[in-house]
Amino acid sequence: MTSSAQVRPDGASFEDNTLFGNVQPLVDTALLPAGDGQPRVVRAAHRLYEHLISLWAPGAIEAAFDLGVFDELAKGPATADELAKSLSTNAKATRVLLDGLNAYDLLVRTWDADGTVVYVLPDEVRDVLRPDGLFSLAGKIGYDRQMAWGAWRNLAETVRTGALADDGSQQHNQISASEYESLVRGINFWAPPVVHALSAQLKEHGWAGDKTAGMLDVGCGTGIYSQLLLQQFAGLTATGLDVERILPLAIAQSEQLDVADRFHPLRRDFWREDWGTGFDLVLFVNIFHLQTPEDARDLAIKANKALADGGLVAIVDQIVVEDEVQQNSTQNRFFRLFAASMMATGGGDAYTLDQYDEWLTGAGLRRVALIDTPMHRILLAGRD
Ligand SMILES: C[S@@+](CC[C@H](N)C(=O)[O-])C[C@H]1O[C@@H](n2cnc3c(N)ncnc32)[C@H](O)[C@@H]1O
Repeated sequence: MTSSAQVRPDGASFEDNTLFGNVQPLVDTALLPAGDGQPRVVRAAHRLYEHLISLWAPGAIEAAFDLGVFDELAKGPATADELAKSLSTNAKATRVLLDGLNAYDLLVRTWDADGTVVYVLPDEVRDVLRPDGLFSLAGKIGYDRQMAWGAWRNLAETVRTGALADDGSQQHNQISASEYESLVRGINFWAPPVVHALSAQLKEHGWAGDKTAGMLDVGCGTGIYSQLLLQQFAGLTATGLDVERILPLAIAQSEQLDVADRFHPLRRDFWREDWGTGFDLVLFVNIFHLQTPEDARDLAIKANKALADGGLVAIVDQIVVEDEVQQNSTQNRFFRLFAASMMATGGGDAYTLDQYDEWLTGAGLRRVALIDTPMHRILLAGRD
C-alpha cells in the first residue's frame, strides 16, 4: 500500500503497510501552475511553509505520547471515541489529533463495518515509542522536552552571543547528566548500522570473530555500540567509560543484551581522570561534536595514550567532507544542521574531515578509513 497509510475496508490489509516506505510531502507543490503561471515567491512560500510546519510533528507526536495514545493503541485498534474514553480526553479533539498523526504514517486509518474510523498502531511505531524499548525514541522526546524546545526558541540569541562561556571562550556542550539520561536512551537506534559497518572494517583490519581484544568506549552512554560489538566478537571485552549517573543504564542494558560478563563499566570524568592503557580499540561515538576544537585535539592525544600497539581509534560522528562530490550530500546537509543543534544546546560543532585529520596527526595518529553510515561517518585511525 502507499504511504498515505489509509486502508479501505475492501483494500489491502494494513499488515502490508511499509512504514515510512514512501512518505509523501505534506504540501503538493506539483499542483502549482507550471511555468510563469505562478509568481516565484508563491512557489517559494509553498516550499518554505512545509519547513515551518515541521513544528507540528513534534507537537502532535509528543502530545499523543504524553496522553498515552500509543500505549493505549498498543493494546489493540480503537476508534477515537473509545480512545477518548480510556484516556479521559475530549472526543472531538482526540479524533483531530489521531487524524493528524496519520499524516506522519504513525497511525493507520481503517474502517469498521459501520464505517467508523478505527486507528491502528503499526508494530514498528509501537516499538519506537515504547518507553523501555531498546531502540525507542521515548528518551529523545524527554530530552526535547527538557532541553531542545527552549534551546531552539533561543537560537537567535545564541547566534548573537556565539554560545560562549562567561569568560568569552568557546565552550563544549552544556548538556547536563540528567539530560543525558534521557538523551542517550533515545539515540540507541543509531547504533546497528554503525556497528554493522564498523565490524566489517575491523574484520578487514584483521579482527577475527574470536580475536582476544579489549576496547574502551569513551562516553559510552547506554553502551550500545560496545555491547553490539561484544555480540559480534566473542573474544572481545569492553570497558564503558562514563559518569556515575549514566553507568547504571549501561550496566542494565549489558545484562539485557547478555554481554554483562564482558562489559566493564568505568566511572570516570574523561577530562580529569585516567582512561587506562593497552586498548585494541578506542571508540568515541557522538563525543567529538560536543567539544571545542581545542578539546577535540586533547581527546585525540588521550586516545593515542590509551591505545595498544597496532590498535585502532574509531570516531563515529557528524564529519563534514568538504569536497565537490560531497558538498551538498544528504549527509553534509544533515551534519551542518546538526551543528546548529549543537550550538543551540550550548556548544560543539559538526567538524570537517580536515579538522579531524589535523587533530589526529597532531596526536601521532593517521586516518586509515572513512565509512559512510546513514547519520554518521566512521573515521578509523591507527598510530603513524
Ligand atoms: C551524546 S552522548 C553519547 C553516548 C554514546 N556514546 C552514544 O553515542 O550513544 C555523550 C556521553 O558522554 C558522556 N560524557 C560527557 N562528558 C563526559 C565526561 N567529562 N566524562 C565522562 N563521560 C562524559 C555523557 O554522560 C554521555 O553519556
